[in-house]
Amino acid sequence: MAHPDRAETFKVWDAPLRLFHWLLVAAITIAFLSSEGDSPIATWHMVAGWSAAVLIAFRLVWGLIGGEHARFADFVRPSAIASHLRELLVGRTERAIGHNPLGGIAVIALLGLTGVVLWSGITVAADRMDEDLHEVLAYGLLVLIGIHVGAVLLMSLLTRENLVRAMIGGRKKRDLHPGARDARAPGVFAMLLGLVAIVLTSLAILRAEPTAFSHQHREAHHGAHDERD
Ligand code: HEM
Ligand code: HEM
Repeated sequence: MAHPDRAETFKVWDAPLRLFHWLLVAAITIAFLSSEGDSPIATWHMVAGWSAAVLIAFRLVWGLIGGEHARFADFVRPSAIASHLRELLVGRTERAIGHNPLGGIAVIALLGLTGVVLWSGITVAADRMDEDLHEVLAYGLLVLIGIHVGAVLLMSLLTRENLVRAMIGGRKKRDLHPGARDARAPGVFAMLLGLVAIVLTSLAILRAEPTAFSHQHREAHHGAHDERD
């Protein structure tokens, strides 16, 4: 793989954040692929959903104590959105080191809507809600993901910066960001707290739903749903 020289790049995204992103992509992809009752991987739907819940819990903690550009305080800047939009409209696009102002809102929307879809799925599984709302919310999330991926690709083109590669390797090119320095890395204490958040959330989920992480027939577990489709 072409690997830009380390001296020519600088750190932006910390490793736990990148791992979070691609695991969330995997979990949500599996949740969609397994969502139809007659899917060959239907038994994995709830495992994928519960795993996404653990990931979201980690991300909330990481937004407070994670690496520099992972922190909410670094990228939730509503006051900067208007001028960012004005620049986009006149075709001027400034590269951002972390999330740009509009991207910051998209991050909150993606995390928030994923949380709502998870809540609705959990409520369906507990037989307290009709499946339709969960399905509508899930497709709403799919639309938002489409916009997210489109925006990432568009901004990569407009700013001539490969944002996807940065979310994989964690680094951006120095020549596109003169004077930029390595992002502050998360401390050991933050790493530990992140791990604690993952363990505690998993334990809480297992307490509420002992089979949450073992794949099984939804029908066998929640007998009321097998008449669907
Ligand atoms: C981001 C995560 C999730 C996505 C994208 C998602 C998506 C979907 C979709 C699209 C359907 C409708 C399937 C159809 O076409 O009939 C569905 C059904 C369902 N989902 Fe989810 N879901 C997620 C998480 C969860 C979670 C966390 C749970 C429970 C713990 C859950 C439980 C269910 C149940 C019980 C059904 C009804 C299926 C049946 O009756 O067998 N989902 N989900
Ligand atoms: C299930 C699908 C996806 C979800 C739920 C999702 C969610 C997210 C979230 C929450 C963030 C913010 C990262 C953070 O600070 O926590 C993000 C950023 C990002 N995502 Fe995704 N993503 C998805 C798919 C993709 C795909 C397929 C790509 C590649 C084309 C991608 C590329 C990126 C990039 C490059 C960023 C960083 C954007 C920036 O530079 O500001 N995502 N995504």
